[in-house]
Amino acid sequence: MTRLGETLRAYQARDPAARSRVEIFLLYPGVHAILYHRLAHWLYRRSLLFLARLVSQWSRFWTGIEIHPGATIGRRFVIDHGMGIVIGETAEIGDDCLIYHGVTLGGTGKDQGKRHPTLGNNVMVSTGAKVLGPFKVGDGARIAANAVVLSEIPPDATAVGVPARVVRIAGEKVDYASSVDQIHVTDPVQKELQALSSRLEWLEQYIDEQARGKNV
Ligand SMILES: CC(C)(COP(=O)(O)OP(=O)(O)OC[C@H]1O[C@@H](n2cnc3c(N)ncnc32)[C@H](O)[C@@H]1OP(=O)(O)O)[C@@H](O)C(=O)NCCC(=O)NCCS
Repeated sequence: MTRLGETLRAYQARDPAARSRVEIFLLYPGVHAILYHRLAHWLYRRSLLFLARLVSQWSRFWTGIEIHPGATIGRRFVIDHGMGIVIGETAEIGDDCLIYHGVTLGGTGKDQGKRHPTLGNNVMVSTGAKVLGPFKVGDGARIAANAVVLSEIPPDATAVGVPARVVRIAGEKVDYASSVDQIHVTDPVQKELQALSSRLEWLEQYIDEQARGKNV
């Protein structure tokens, strides 16, 4: 009950259209999918695989959200709108994550065993985004709408596009071309020449001193 209460509060906090907790409990497919998943996961962990799958498919039928019974989901998980969501068997989702309709947390078909992504805490996966493969999406990361993420995303990053690339970390632009100083660049050849020249100067001084010493 505590977990249900905090999940309902998370919906209220994240969905500006959400009104009362009663309404969220009765009418939000994301809440229903999570409740069904808890039962399915409980059955899955006791190797009652057929029953687990039955519950998960029943949930999919009612909510349009397909969560494999094996998926591990943290607390206060919010699925906004629901519909067209797929969460794979070995997917792991941290606490306080938010996903929208049309999201897939899936595999590429190339991996065995752990095939699906791991979302850290407080990750947002926007509408239509696909996160494919057994890598980590760091805490606080934001995956943009319709992005296709195929490799690890660092914490607090914003990833956009197909295939997804990181464009912000903690709100700061990640743009090599514009952040690198291409004018005041140190020339390595010039550095070596300077070193040689100062060595030569020292040698000349040394020879002069030796020569002067002999004349005395
Ligand atoms: C990714 C998102 C969360 C914004 O995150 P953010 O960290 O605030 O990033 P910004 O808005 O500063 O955008 C960063 C850059 O990515 C670009 N970008 C943002 N979303 C993008 C997308 N879906 N596809 C491609 N590029 C995108 C921006 O134009 C910006 O480009 P720039 O570097 O050239 O300026 C937001 O754009 C998004 O996709 N929200 C969708 C939420 C959703 O699913 N809503 C459904 C409600 S029903």
